[in-house]
Amino acid sequence: METDMNGNGTGTHDDGDASGSLRGKVVVLGVTGGIAAYKSAELVRRLVKLKAEVHVIMTKAAQEFVSPLTFRTLSSNPVVTDMFGEPGAWNVMHVSLAQRADIVVVAPATANCIGKIASGIADDMLTTTIMATQAPVLLAPSMNTRMFLNPIVQGNLRKLASLGYIIMEPAEGELACGDVGRGRMPEPGEIVEKICRILSDGSPVMEDKRDLEGISVLVTAGPTQEALDPVRYLTNRSSGKMGYALAEAARDRGARVCLISGPTSLPAPVGVDFIRVRSAQEMFEAVIARFEDADVVIKAAAVADYRPVRVAGQKIKKGDGRMVLELEPTPDILGELGRRKGAKLLVGFAAETRDVVESAKDKLIRKNLDMIVANDVSRYDAGFNVDTNAVTIIGRDGSIEEVPLSSKREVAEKVLDAVARLMRARS
Ligand code: CTP
Repeated sequence: METDMNGNGTGTHDDGDASGSLRGKVVVLGVTGGIAAYKSAELVRRLVKLKAEVHVIMTKAAQEFVSPLTFRTLSSNPVVTDMFGEPGAWNVMHVSLAQRADIVVVAPATANCIGKIASGIADDMLTTTIMATQAPVLLAPSMNTRMFLNPIVQGNLRKLASLGYIIMEPAEGELACGDVGRGRMPEPGEIVEKICRILSDGSPVMEDKRDLEGISVLVTAGPTQEALDPVRYLTNRSSGKMGYALAEAARDRGARVCLISGPTSLPAPVGVDFIRVRSAQEMFEAVIARFEDADVVIKAAAVADYRPVRVAGQKIKKGDGRMVLELEPTPDILGELGRRKGAKLLVGFAAETRDVVESAKDKLIRKNLDMIVANDVSRYDAGFNVDTNAVTIIGRDGSIEEVPLSSKREVAEKVLDAVARLMRARS
């Protein structure tokens, strides 16, 4: 959505804030010193339009980018610019704002601000408010790609995610510095939608649904690629979306998450330990290496069952007649985990095109699983390469739960509900 600074929508769809009213909700918006600070003006406008009471706290650096007057005008509230200024209507302002907030949003969140929050530094009004609040805190990181990918920043985000902070994925695109990559602040409309979700229900909220706290979850996602020669490979239609949604949902529910992913076009989720692999063999080795540390393994990956017996060192030349490829089985990763299972909870996926439930039940027994999530991949709206899925969750105890067509995130939450129930029953 493009919007000019007069607040007039110029895009083809409306503000995209169909998510509902925020009447009665107090949103504390922290603006830190990044170029995306100008987009936060639009964010305030949208929040106010949804009837939220918005209080803006600007860091010193943010004021170099945008004037507090902009936010004061848009929010119709005084803007907090330093800790020791005139307190106005507030007594101890950071405590009041921290207590009154239904949500604290930091957009843009710079690497510096993220670092301070992660380290427990509270040296200005924003970081002090965040430290004092019990409301959910949503961070919208915005910075140069290389800064974003810096292991220190990634480590800080992982730590914050594990503590219940909700972190939005930065978008890809051209950055203010001229680089292209991940690091752009999500669009105001997306941030508003996220706020609405958090403040309504079914969303990751700090004090809510932290039922996987302290649990280590290993998720696999995506297809595998089995090389034929240096430029060709065998693969499948998996996009990885289901596995990534599971990893993000488990993270938001407090789990320590390791995501092992085949080749996908999806960005690595923030706050999870991310390992990229290519072939079934590489996935096998990565999973086995991390199996010990996991309490729960969810194998959403669509692993190739066969690979070429020979991988040509040079590009294969076209011949005159037919060509026969000789294939050999790949290791059955889940089958192997089933053999080593111990007390771990194993969840498989079964992509089927017919006899969905029966075939899945058979796999559950064959691979010694606790649960299997069956989906009919012949449907156009479920399974591979789409944003929605419809599944049947089958338990070892014979339980069957149908999850109707929903977003992959919602399906992920249902699968994790079942995982959390099983974990509780065991403890
Ligand atoms: N799986 C695995 N390793 C393989 C093949 C599959 O770990 N080499 C896992 C998948 O990640 C999934 C489950 O096993 O969780 C079922 O995968 P699926 O392809 O449906 O089953 P297969 O065992 O390959 O059986 P079939 O091809 O006969 O349906």
